[in-house]
Amino acid sequence: MTELDERPETFPLDNTDPALFTHLFDTLNQMRDQCPVAWSPSFGGFWALSKYDDVVKAAGDWQHFTTTQGIMVPPTGASMKVIPAELDPPRHTKFRKLLLPYFTERALQRWVPGIEKIIDDAFAPVLPAGRADLVTDVAHPVPVLAISLILGMLDADWRRIRELAANFLAATGKPELARQRARELEAYLEEQITRRRGAPATDVLGELVNAELPADEEPITAAEFLGMVQLMVVAGHETTVNGMATMTYRLISEPGLKERLLADRSLTDAMIDETLRLHPPVWNMGRTIATDTEVRGTAMCPGEKVMLVYGAANRDPDRFPDPERFDIGRASNQHLTFGSGRHRCVGEPLAKLELRLTLDYVLDKIPDVELDGEPVWGGGTNQHGLRSLPVRFTPRAAADAGER
Ligand code: HEM
Repeated sequence: MTELDERPETFPLDNTDPALFTHLFDTLNQMRDQCPVAWSPSFGGFWALSKYDDVVKAAGDWQHFTTTQGIMVPPTGASMKVIPAELDPPRHTKFRKLLLPYFTERALQRWVPGIEKIIDDAFAPVLPAGRADLVTDVAHPVPVLAISLILGMLDADWRRIRELAANFLAATGKPELARQRARELEAYLEEQITRRRGAPATDVLGELVNAELPADEEPITAAEFLGMVQLMVVAGHETTVNGMATMTYRLISEPGLKERLLADRSLTDAMIDETLRLHPPVWNMGRTIATDTEVRGTAMCPGEKVMLVYGAANRDPDRFPDPERFDIGRASNQHLTFGSGRHRCVGEPLAKLELRLTLDYVLDKIPDVELDGEPVWGGGTNQHGLRSLPVRFTPRAAADAGER
């Protein structure tokens, strides 16, 4: 028992401090190397796991590391559960079964022309000037329009959905504000759902709303359904925007990378994975200890919060040789950017499809793209990425960009 009784090392990680985001990965690397099982005194205290093996183990062990008491550190304070993220099996499994068929690579094929058009339309206004902020001018509309296309909500105002979703995410740690902002988004989505209830399904949201469940299953409540749609709508926004921007940043700034990709497109997927490993748009997720457990000899008690630090695990030298190097030739790039275990991201194939089609666009239509100013990095309690990426390229008329 002596090992378990030993006081753990303290590491003062405060993920609500904006100053953290200027040197996020240096801090996470330092924490992982000094205190792989760290105790941060912020917000009443939480554990932070940052070694790759520990994070994978905890993410796969819902009996000890539950999501039912929230997935954010500090907690969002929103009263409604996001589903399926904040459920344990067996209830969790039911929602995964409902959602997964719509997000396989194969199922997504039917949306490729529509997503290509969304990307073409996003680039079209900036082509004549030959200058753009890749984050705000181009990337912002793509993920929100892509999920709206799939769900069948393209008639919706994407700026409004984006604003509601971004406001909701920005309220993490401010319970009153979070509740108020969640209510605005919920009211909007409720209207979309109600319209489809009992009506013949003409889109994916309609199919989900009217899905027949096996008779022996407990029916999905209205609140659960709303929580599920809310997560689908919110989960892909900042995350995929950040993925697009960091991918383009690496494309421009890694010596020789663009030339390699132009010569060999089979490297595209490896390039995207290596970007996501080094720049995980979601750099941590939260859990709560459900029953007594221990990690590397450190005891953890029920009710204690745990942060799974994906951003540190992705750069763990015991898992990724020379981890700070951008290397598209990595033999095995099993990064944790989409999580691991039962809660692994449902939208991974969609996010990767959007990134692939954007990368194809850049390589095909504006291959001479280069930096046009200083990129601006930023973050939130569990998000990280570029807030601004000024680029320039040879101007061209949007009409000349032509068909794919
Ligand atoms: C680059 C873009 C994205 C990143 C980095 C990302 C990251 C993640 C991560 C890390 C988790 C696991 C959470 C955990 O450990 O508890 C997750 C879960 C989830 N993501 Fe994503 N995501 C992305 C895009 C999307 C998109 C486009 C969708 C749209 C459907 C989506 C839907 C979900 C859902 C529904 C879950 C919950 C899964 C569950 O709890 O079973 N994500 N995502």
